[in-house]
Amino acid sequence: MALLTKAIKGTQDVLPTDSVRWQYVERTLMNTAALYSFKEMRTPVFEHTELFNRSVGDTTDVVQKEMYTFNDNGGRSISLRPEGTAGAVRAFLEHGLHNEAMPQKISYITSCYRYEKPQAGRLREFHQFGVECFGAASPSADAEVISLAAAAFDALGVKGLTLEINSIGCPECRAKYQQALREYFEAHASELCDTCRDRLGRNPMRILDCKSPVCHAIAAEAPVVLDYICDDCRAHFDGVKAHLDAIGIEYKVNPTIVRGLDYYTRTVFEFVSTYIGAQATVCGGGRYDGLVAQMGGPQVPALGFAIGLERLLMVMQAQGCRFPGTEPCTVYIAPMGERAALTAAKLCAQLRAEGFTAETDIVGRGLKAQMKYADKIGAQYTVVLGDNELDSGRAMLKCMATGEQSEITLPDGLITAIYDRKIDAALGELTDSIEQSSFDSDK
Ligand code: HAM
Repeated sequence: MALLTKAIKGTQDVLPTDSVRWQYVERTLMNTAALYSFKEMRTPVFEHTELFNRSVGDTTDVVQKEMYTFNDNGGRSISLRPEGTAGAVRAFLEHGLHNEAMPQKISYITSCYRYEKPQAGRLREFHQFGVECFGAASPSADAEVISLAAAAFDALGVKGLTLEINSIGCPECRAKYQQALREYFEAHASELCDTCRDRLGRNPMRILDCKSPVCHAIAAEAPVVLDYICDDCRAHFDGVKAHLDAIGIEYKVNPTIVRGLDYYTRTVFEFVSTYIGAQATVCGGGRYDGLVAQMGGPQVPALGFAIGLERLLMVMQAQGCRFPGTEPCTVYIAPMGERAALTAAKLCAQLRAEGFTAETDIVGRGLKAQMKYADKIGAQYTVVLGDNELDSGRAMLKCMATGEQSEITLPDGLITAIYDRKIDAALGELTDSIEQSSFDSDK
């Protein structure tokens, strides 16, 4: 039975009490992206395995150890997406977006799948909000994409994230760096894990993000890529820093960031939080100028980032960020008897058609139990309907917060009364916020 009533390890349900938080965060992120003209793209949850082998890289942990890969009934090797960039690049090429005006700016919210050891902030099914910007090579593009991530965190009220940036150079400077790394790791070859010994010949940079504690300790002393980048890459990196300074975005250069995916070139960055323990990277991204061409397209520079939504929500909860809730039920109509139930159903339909949340009894409760339920769901107003009300065409509208009751005529008086009260409440909020902002500016 446990198989039926227990979710798979490393996966999470979002319950109705939490989904409002997710909706608020997702809406805010997408709205912020829209301010920078990023438009949503949706791609399939599974792709040909080859796509990830070629883009994320077949010597990465993600491809070697973490992908959910299977053969479909047609014998094709399929993988659940471990991240969003590869699918976005595939769709960009497949639909000829490189023939459109550049830059092309896309955003997405996706589920991702990695067979990692689950712990706080590390799941096997997780979600990312990401953006990809195609066709912009200049350092100003890097700063703009980074500033979008910073603006998204600001819009959500997230504080205290550190932006760490680095440059990992282009294929030319990378070759020199790979050689230096190979020499360094060869001296420690016998201590490395089997996977890293294999990486030593093929891609020594990937040893830097191995999760084995021994490899990790050896990697901590390895040469850093920033010491090997060429003049052009250094000038690009200086340009990114100058633009970040101009926009007023604080950062720290961290020469040890290399990122765990193979497609990156030049700028790489992470936003790190001290609020959520070991899995502290809330956002990771960078430039990938070679990937589109590597996948058979033209030479199109590109860059992007992804924010892990579970980690973002953890930070927000740890910091006590505000999550504006959904409106509670506006009106609960409590019918007594069959005749009243029909009128209540009709009134609810009319209220909903006007955009108000309305509920009535659908389980056959008595009046006392119905009022208890209305209280529990936070209904703002209640109306009791019995034979008297139906015969007289009048009922009492009760405000649950104040207990105040006012007489309304049925059916139209109910909707008018709710409109009046909503307008009064909105005006009250507006006056409060104007008073608050003039108080703040007087301080
Ligand atoms: P990534 O660093 O692999 O980059 O993932 C981005 C973010 O996803 C991480 O910073 C983290 O917040 C979250 N994340 C990653 N793995 C897990 C996990 N197992 N459980 C929970 N959250 C996780 C990418 O995926 C790139 N595609 C980002 C990018 C877009 N680069 C350029 N464009």
